[in-house]
Parts: sequence; structure tokens; C-alpha cells
Amino acid sequence: MEQAKEVRLTPIRNGTVIDHITCGQALNVMKLLGVNENTVCSSISIGMHVSSKELGGWKDIIKIEDRELGENTADKIALIAPDATISIIRDYSVAVKYKVKLEDKVYGLARCSNPNCITNKGEPVIPEFSVVSKYPMQLRCCYCDRILIDIPGHLM
Ligand SMILES: Nc1ncnc2c1ncn2[C@@H]1O[C@H](COP(=O)(O)OP(=O)(O)OP(=O)(O)O)[C@@H](O)[C@H]1O
Ligand SMILES: [Mg+2]
Ligand SMILES: [Zn+2]
Repeated sequence: MEQAKEVRLTPIRNGTVIDHITCGQALNVMKLLGVNENTVCSSISIGMHVSSKELGGWKDIIKIEDRELGENTADKIALIAPDATISIIRDYSVAVKYKVKLEDKVYGLARCSNPNCITNKGEPVIPEFSVVSKYPMQLRCCYCDRILIDIPGHLM
């Protein structure tokens, strides 16, 4: 039944596939993409709790028609789905493919969850975090030393 793989989501002509999303994070990725019925003209398919040979368990997957994701978006996806793979589809084939990458320092991608942090006081400081752990994802603010609570809710 090899050819039956991935038939659960329709092929797209042009767009982006975000594969190997940490199971349960598809809707958070949708939120960070800012896609909803007011901002999108083409189709989006979301697969949740899909079995994954590569990850040896479960994953989520998103296919977006007629949009090619940029690097800044991919960097933010890494904060909630560090194993995600981005494939840019052109004329039904994979034209560009890369894994999202998580640097040791996260710069200008998320706001601090501590309201008293200097980065939340209207000062011209760009928030910066160190990655403390990847599974589970833990980010520590370089300004106030607090662990960022609710990463999906604080993406910029
Ligand atoms: N035309 C298309 N429409 C929709 N999705 C596509 C299309 N072509 C490829 N994909 C999807 O894009 C992703 C990358 O494609 P690829 O052929 O490299 O898959 P793969 O061999 O399973 O790769 P991986 O090892 O990363 O899982 C897969 O999730 C695949 O299902
Ligand atoms: Mg695959
Ligand atoms: Zn802080």
C-alpha cells in the first residue's frame, strides 16, 4: 500500500507544505501564519494527528495553496515545531525544501511574558531569548531571566 501514503491531503499546484509539525501544534502554526477566511483566497488543508514514519509517532501537516513562506515565518515555526520541514511547491513538484532551524539565541521573534520586563516598557529593545531546552521548548529571556510562558501566544 506504498502509494496510499499522503493521499489524505489533496496535491497542490503551487504553495507551501509544512510537514513534520509537532503533533498538536497545527492550529498554533495556523495562528502564526495569520491565515483565516479574511486573509486567504486559496485553500488550506490541515492534517492533525497523522502517523509519521520519520518522527516515529504522530505529526501535524499543513498545505497552503498560492503562498510561499519566508524565512522569518520559518524561524517562528521552529519555536513551536522544531522538527518541521518546509517544502515550496511549484507546478506540483517540490522546488525548495528545508528544515526549520532553531538558533541558540532567538532574536525579535517573540515577546516576553513578564509584564515588568524592560522589553515590555515601551523602550526600544528587541526581545531576545536563549533556548534552554528543545523538548519541551523552553526559552529564557536575556533581559529578565524569566522562562517564556505560552510561546505560541507571544510570537511577534
Ligand atoms: N504537489 C504537492 N502537493 C501537496 N503536497 C506535496 C506535493 N508534493 C510534495 N508534497 C508534500 O511535500 C512534502 C515533501 O515532499 P517529499 O516528496 O520530499 O516527501 P517525503 O519524501 O515524504 O519527504 P520527507 O522525508 O521530508 O518526509 C511531503 O509532505 C509531501 O507529501
Ligand atoms: Mg514524508
Ligand atoms: Zn523578559
